[in-house]
Amino acid sequence: MVTVETERLLVRRPIEADRARFVELFVDPEFMVFGKGALAIAEAERRFNHMVELSRRITYAKQPVIEKATGTIIGYTGVGVCAIDDVARLEWGWRFATSARGRGYATEAAAALLNVAHASDNGEMLCIIAADNALSHRVAEKLGFVTQRQIIWPADQVVTDLLVLRIGLGGEPLLAPSSLGE
Ligand SMILES: CC(C)(COP(=O)(O)OP(=O)(O)OC[C@H]1O[C@@H](n2cnc3c(N)ncnc32)[C@H](O)[C@@H]1OP(=O)(O)O)[C@@H](O)C(=O)NCCC(=O)NCCS
Repeated sequence: MVTVETERLLVRRPIEADRARFVELFVDPEFMVFGKGALAIAEAERRFNHMVELSRRITYAKQPVIEKATGTIIGYTGVGVCAIDDVARLEWGWRFATSARGRGYATEAAAALLNVAHASDNGEMLCIIAADNALSHRVAEKLGFVTQRQIIWPADQVVTDLLVLRIGLGGEPLLAPSSLGE
């Protein structure tokens, strides 16, 4: 298992023992703000399953971020899968528990895991952020993502920015492994 370590954090693949914590986070409306909103338990379980499955295929898939000082899972960062213009793209994301926000953790964790992506792949990484999510835009900006275009998100009609970042030597959009949708 690839474990990424920073000064304050560990980032590693999800394991079965993480399930209860992620279900707890996925059903929390504060954790899920600027997204699909709080999930029902069954949906939260499915989302965790998807995280585990994707992390078996991609070393920089969404994975737990653990605060070293407490040993607690405080959020996640890494890629998920998102269909844009009917193309299943790899899309980078981050989401942290309310108690862990405002300490620079999202940027620290994502920058470290992005180094894994840079070492493994060449292409264009996508990031999707609601236009009014200033805190998330700030993280993306610090990591070097640039806004490419704006769309109206079909599911909820939210004004949404599509941002991109060159991974490795850059190139075509990075695509999801076949057979894996969101
Ligand atoms: C968006 C989100 C992930 C940002 O997480 P975060 O860890 O607070 O973000 P950052 O890494 O930018 O840190 C925030 C601030 O912590 C402060 N900070 C405090 N101690 C710090 C330290 N030791 N090092 C760095 N920054 C520190 C900084 O002021 C920093 O902001 P600035 O660099 O713009 O001044 C978080 O608010 C969240 O989970 N939101 C809800 C879910 C969401 O919107 N997800 C994204 C959907 S697109």
